[in-house]
Amino acid sequence: MCVKMFSCLLKGLVGLNLLDVSGNLFSAVPRHLPPSVQQLYLSNNSFSGLHEGSFEGFHNLKYLRLSHCGLQSEGIHPQAFNHSSLVELDLSYNQLTTIPTVPTTLQYLYLEANKIRGDVITH
Ligand SMILES: *[C@@H]1O[C@H](CO)[C@@H](O)[C@H](O)[C@H]1NC(C)=O
Ligand SMILES: *[C@@H]1O[C@H](CO)[C@@H](O)[C@H](O)[C@H]1NC(C)=O
Repeated sequence: MCVKMFSCLLKGLVGLNLLDVSGNLFSAVPRHLPPSVQQLYLSNNSFSGLHEGSFEGFHNLKYLRLSHCGLQSEGIHPQAFNHSSLVELDLSYNQLTTIPTVPTTLQYLYLEANKIRGDVITH
């Protein structure tokens, strides 16, 4: 039965372009969103991790915001963000120690307020 699930409620919105669910209690990326979604705002939720298929099927996803989500590098699959449609990725205010793999076509990447170390030059 497809009644109360979040993704079921949105299923009929075939023209949905922007979905902002910032500041909620999501623990995983919602599944089966309308494929028309181009802007997905998930900031201020709490994700334990992101797997390879977390954004699978979002063929039009261009703007993805995941700031303040408690993300750690270990919990992010290397291919989680490697989707060619992405233009902007906001990963600020997380616990990242490394920079994740992103598509070469990405135009905006926000990584402020994480735990990434710069290169140390030794002589
Ligand atoms: C997320 O939470 C931070 C800290 O509480 C707040 O400054 C920020 O405005 C919030 N952002 C969103 C998109 O909800
Ligand atoms: C990212 O995806 C592209 C296209 O599918 C692929 O060619 C590339 O090897 C991937 N990058 C990494 C680091 O795996």
